[in-house]
Amino acid sequence: MQEPATTWLEREIREQPSCLGALIESFLQRSLGTASEGLRLERVAPHAWSRSERTGSLGEIRLLGCGTAFHAAELGAMMFEHIAGVPARAEMATSFDPRRTLLGPQDRVVALSQSGESSDTLRALRAVRELGCTTLALTSNGDSSLARGAHASLDTKAGRERAIPSTKGFTGLVLALYLLALDERRSQSGDEPQPSELAAIAEFPARVSQTLEACSEIGIDPAPFLGAQSAFFLGDAFELAIAREGALKLAETALLPSSSYPSAEIRHGPLALVCGTTPVILSACQRDRLEQHAQLACELASLDAPLLVITTHEASEAWPRACTVYCIPPAPAPLDALLAVVPLQLLALRVGRARGCDVDRPRNLSKSVRVE
Ligand code: F6R
Repeated sequence: MQEPATTWLEREIREQPSCLGALIESFLQRSLGTASEGLRLERVAPHAWSRSERTGSLGEIRLLGCGTAFHAAELGAMMFEHIAGVPARAEMATSFDPRRTLLGPQDRVVALSQSGESSDTLRALRAVRELGCTTLALTSNGDSSLARGAHASLDTKAGRERAIPSTKGFTGLVLALYLLALDERRSQSGDEPQPSELAAIAEFPARVSQTLEACSEIGIDPAPFLGAQSAFFLGDAFELAIAREGALKLAETALLPSSSYPSAEIRHGPLALVCGTTPVILSACQRDRLEQHAQLACELASLDAPLLVITTHEASEAWPRACTVYCIPPAPAPLDALLAVVPLQLLALRVGRARGCDVDRPRNLSKSVRVE
């Protein structure tokens, strides 16, 4: 039997299947019977934000957030573009400048924040409202300033986080964005979500539980990180945002400088920093890039870098023998990328503890940044 969690961070990581399940339950309805064909996605986007209620050109969707919420925004922008075919862009709320933007009344904005109280995100929300954009607050705090300040709000059902490093807040934001993107595609083109997409969503909490079990913290060896000066996180497409999130999590939780790159980009400079004491974490779930990722893994192994690969079961034979492979259950994109964040959260927790860090309260940080 699993030991009870001793930190908020661990507890919140483990709460993810139930939080994600609650979000899914609010939008995925099952008609009579239990077959996956009986699943239906209810309307996700609130009326006050949907395009159907507005006139004029399509416009773009801009997603604003800070830190971990910005990484969710990056995933969301890719989803709106790839799934719904709507131009979308993520921008850090901290650097949003209303004097240097073409945003206007034809555009929609999603402001993302776990707490709903980050002052940079609130400031950006006020600015885009003044520009005439239609705004949606995506947050796990329905009673927050962000939820009250936007035209509409959507609760991710992740609940309050107590650990400063955000975990369930992130997965809730990303899953809500995926549901929104499917809903947007339906309103743009009339295409209903496919039964296979709905089945993958319905199974997702169970896949997260499986991933938590398969990569339990106990199974993660912190040794390569103890004498390290830095770590690199690599990934492509959806998994690039996951690599960025993994790097932020390890940096704040284990106080280890960590950077992230698209996988092939490491050859264009950062490779000079890689040696036997530089852990590299490669997120490699995309089957169509398996060959390139396996080649890169061999190059990194030849430099003696401790290499961790996060991938699906099917792909596991491709990796050099020296590397550690964390297998996650296969899921269609972008859900596979979202699953890949779970081992990275556990890695940050495990390494943070092994390095003697306060994983719930990393030094110098507060749960929500309120600086006017
Ligand atoms: C990192 C982390 C921060 C927050 C950021 C925004 O683990 O928690 O980067 O994501 O400060 O906070 P919210 O989402 O509350 O606006």
